[in-house]
Amino acid sequence: MSEGAAKKEEKPRKFQAIRGTRDILPPETALWNRVEQTAHEVFATFGFGEIRVPIFEPTELFARAVGSDTDIVSKEMYTFESSEVPNLVELRTYYLSSEYAEDVFVGGSKDTVDLLSFAVKVVDEFENRALPQTSENLALVDDFLKKVSQIDATRSERADVLNPFREVLHNFVRSVQLGDSTTLRPEATASVCRAYIEHNMQQLPQPVKLYCIGPMFRRERPQKGRYRQFYQIDAEVLGGSDAPAIDAEVIEMVMTFFERLRLEGVQLDINCIGDKNCRPKYVELLRAELSKVKDKLGPDSQRRIETNPLRVLDSKVKEEQSIIEKLPRIGDHLCEDCAAHYAAVKRELDLRGVKYHENWRLVRGLDYYMRTTFEITAKGLGSQNAVCGGGRYDGLVELLGGPPTKGIGFAIGEDRLILSLLETGHSPLATRHSPLLYIAWMGEKAYATAIRAAKNLRNAGFRVELPPVEQKFGKALGQADKLGACFALILGDNEVSSGEWTLKTLADGKQEKLRESDLVEHLKKQL
Ligand code: HAM
Repeated sequence: MSEGAAKKEEKPRKFQAIRGTRDILPPETALWNRVEQTAHEVFATFGFGEIRVPIFEPTELFARAVGSDTDIVSKEMYTFESSEVPNLVELRTYYLSSEYAEDVFVGGSKDTVDLLSFAVKVVDEFENRALPQTSENLALVDDFLKKVSQIDATRSERADVLNPFREVLHNFVRSVQLGDSTTLRPEATASVCRAYIEHNMQQLPQPVKLYCIGPMFRRERPQKGRYRQFYQIDAEVLGGSDAPAIDAEVIEMVMTFFERLRLEGVQLDINCIGDKNCRPKYVELLRAELSKVKDKLGPDSQRRIETNPLRVLDSKVKEEQSIIEKLPRIGDHLCEDCAAHYAAVKRELDLRGVKYHENWRLVRGLDYYMRTTFEITAKGLGSQNAVCGGGRYDGLVELLGGPPTKGIGFAIGEDRLILSLLETGHSPLATRHSPLLYIAWMGEKAYATAIRAAKNLRNAGFRVELPPVEQKFGKALGQADKLGACFALILGDNEVSSGEWTLKTLADGKQEKLRESDLVEHLKKQL
């Protein structure tokens, strides 16, 4: 091998962010902070308090809340088995891999011997209570122990003794649950409801208004505005009342927030999808009508006739649009209570001056919704143009083992919100608050003074750049320019011994002499 080739091989791997994830860099992060700060401010004026919930939760929480048949739960969750016993999950993967079997199985029984000792370890850990003590695990362990008691322990290394048990061992090791199934949160509503129950929040003054900001994870096909790690600003109202004014106020809050950010092209779509009394009848009617036109629908919609006919209404397939427009509409099939609730929500929105667009095809992709649903779109986003989705979910807290509770909320896709702001000309630089001051210093004494000056200026709220190594003044001023500094503070031997510092305004080159004690006040006047 040539020297060049050897060197090439040694080159360390360059890493890249995993598909669907990305780094958010300055200056864009300044805009993210401004958006989040605005959320804190606006939401506080509506009486919301911030909640921070874990990034991972039991898989079952999301399966139960969002629904096992939804795309999110059935296809998109990042789920892993998290065992209390180190390496147990990895060892199982290894022992069950074909790679391992090929490595050790040469007509003998080494793989079965290894599998047997692994299975015995699993049983021990189960008995030490380090594995989930579920009824399924208990039954598996009992059955396994019964079967392996037939192995002659004195000859258990021999292939002819062990091989008949190969299948039993494989089945046990494959099926036993080594740890709790855990999932990176795909959304926050389920976690907020879990927290409401866990902390007995029904005992607090009702309703409880909470919001939460942070990353969510869904294994979707990445594209503009769609990521596998994305950020939501989520708000929930939980309590005993489903008064239509609560629906309207939640919507008013998110619209106020968007207005405050000067988000452009905002359109609010609303709908009422009924409740457990009227929706099932409508879904059956829809299914029957869809079956009549099945042949004219694409494969996705055909499948959904069986699994979830409501989702057909979501279809963006061009050829299906004229068919969908002729389908029965939920609005004509609401029960009296749902119809009255919907009418009242609209009245409450009118009272608040919130403009909306009724969209009977707005069904949401999560199972917990009932009655009010809404979605907000904005400019500059292409096909992934929903910046916010939400709705009412009475009964969800009960479904998760809590007391009967009403709920409504929304989540804003923060990535899309930022994208829309950037596409419509909001500069992240405009969010920088204080001017930058560059300290050009030369000499050891000047350095000590520069450190002191930096500390005082930063305490006063100025952004200060203090070069870590000495530079000639010319170079330092060039650097200050490149960084977009407004001022340069020049500290050399002369300045330190006279106590008169030089402050240069970079835009016009003006230089002034100042005493240390006057510097902060002088700069504040220039803001
Ligand atoms: P969702 O409609 O699944 O609802 O998500 C809300 C918003 O999150 C979407 O409108 C979109 O802006 C953003 N979003 C969703 N998936 C992605 C993705 N892969 N990449 C970028 N942005 C995305 C919920 O999550 C409900 N928990 C909302 C809710 C709260 N309902 C009641 N309370």
